[in-house]
Amino acid sequence: MPSGAARVAGVIGWPIGHSRSPRLHGTWLAWYGIDGAYVPLPTPPDRADEALRALPALGLVGANVTVPHKERAFRACDTLTDRARRVGAVNTLSITEMGGLHGDSTDGFGFLENLRHGAPGWDVTRGPAVVLGAGGAARAVCAALLEAGAPAVRVLNRTVARAETLVADLDEGGVMTVAPLADAAAALIDAALLVNTTSLGMVGQPSLVLDLAPLPPDALVNDLVYAPLETPLLAAARARGNGVVDGLGMLLHQGRPGFQAWFGVDPEVTPALRRAVLDD
Ligand code: ATR
Repeated sequence: MPSGAARVAGVIGWPIGHSRSPRLHGTWLAWYGIDGAYVPLPTPPDRADEALRALPALGLVGANVTVPHKERAFRACDTLTDRARRVGAVNTLSITEMGGLHGDSTDGFGFLENLRHGAPGWDVTRGPAVVLGAGGAARAVCAALLEAGAPAVRVLNRTVARAETLVADLDEGGVMTVAPLADAAAALIDAALLVNTTSLGMVGQPSLVLDLAPLPPDALVNDLVYAPLETPLLAAARARGNGVVDGLGMLLHQGRPGFQAWFGVDPEVTPALRRAVLDD
């Protein structure tokens, strides 16, 4: 149980009832015997600015930010990491010694760490990456792929204009291209990585219709969707012999920088943690 001196963090979002972050950070706090707490902070959109300003006043050490407040939190920050500035959104806030808000975007870190742990030996630099989707998650994934040295990043989206905006914002080296989601075959043909960042394939959402036939057999396939854990995309990729990495690890790894900043430990992501978070 936290004492009166406990360090307190939380997650701001709306709705927040299905967030797995309290279970994630709560498990780590218990494992490491830290005098701390991590709580859901349900914050409707019209109170978000007020709530963000209140974090330092309430003495919190920081917070995660989730849908729909990531861009608003970005604008509320006094200081930002480079990766947050690139993505234009923050998911992790720390309170500075001066009582200011410092913003970070750790989704890209979580994405890369998930691949590093889920597919040891696989390397981002070894070939083109195909990213399905052009929303906030795609932005974090693309920024991380560029930073890690992917030789080409092909963004496929239903709404091509949205993918074009993403590329205009992120591409500095001329390595990104855009295509309609329906034209995946040409993009897949020499891909080393396929990532789904759309909501397609998630419980309650339409399924992702994609012919994997052109995808090289040694390409890695990753789905950010983790409900279900084995999406139809991952099942199809596995069946034809591709390496697959599910999306739960990205959620777990993206929490590490915040936990370290607030509680002083870089926490471990283990099979037991996966079970603890899934049991929720
Ligand atoms: P997130 O922040 O999780 O990325 P988002 O910004 O709402 O969420 O983006 C959702 C992504 O899923 C988008 O790429 C979206 O495509 P559009 O930009 O064309 O809207 C994609 N998506 C959602 N539903 C889809 C559907 N039924 N068919 C194709 N793409 C879909």
